Amino acid sequence: MTVVSPLHALASRRSMKFLRAPAPKQEELDQILQAAMSAPDHGKLRPWRFVLIRGEAIGRLADLALDAVKRSGDPRMTPEKEKSVRQWMSEVPLFIGLAHKIDHDNPKVPEQEQLLATGAAVMNILNGVHALGYGAFWSTGMGTYLEEVQNALGLDALDYRFLGFLAIGTPGCAVPTVERPDFREFVTEWTGPV
Ligand SMILES: Cc1cc2nc3c(=O)[nH]c(=O)nc-3n(C[C@H](O)[C@H](O)[C@H](O)COP(=O)(O)O)c2cc1C
Repeated sequence: MTVVSPLHALASRRSMKFLRAPAPKQEELDQILQAAMSAPDHGKLRPWRFVLIRGEAIGRLADLALDAVKRSGDPRMTPEKEKSVRQWMSEVPLFIGLAHKIDHDNPKVPEQEQLLATGAAVMNILNGVHALGYGAFWSTGMGTYLEEVQNALGLDALDYRFLGFLAIGTPGCAVPTVERPDFREFVTEWTGPV
């Protein structure tokens, strides 16, 4: 049996866009979503919200999102692009809509921190998906920034900030290894005022 260290698991995660069935089984999905609840969260606001979209609802999401993007006049949504997005979405077995519930005017926890807590929760989902041998891809396409899309998902734009979709499933090909930057480029040590 190969034992994978937790750090190796973290370092070997990479996003996979092209996914197909099977999605994580319900029991696995429950575990993955439960892992999101361990995100750091100032004030225990639990700001994260996740909307599961699967089965026939994915076709409905494609209709809703692509119509909204086309109506918005986005020049990138050419007929070819629409066809390829529809094809991509039709193969992905599970999407999760990502949002954070805005606690307006919280005196202790500014919205930025609520957003960060939600980002951390999403990261736990990405790592959980990877740990169980599936793949995922975070996308802010599909009309993420159009109010009508988030409203149609039940996330009133006055109360929720919509953060995109996770596509989740089984990678359509072997997961290639990817070169990551050397952490030293991003780290300094502070020993006193400069
Ligand atoms: C908030 C967020 C939104 C993203 N939206 C898109 C997107 O719409 N389209 C895209 O190609 N990549 C998008 N990405 C990037 C991919 O999800 C992925 O991180 C990237 O391809 C790098 O792969 P890696 O996670 O293996 O480093 C987004 C990433 C984040 C964090």
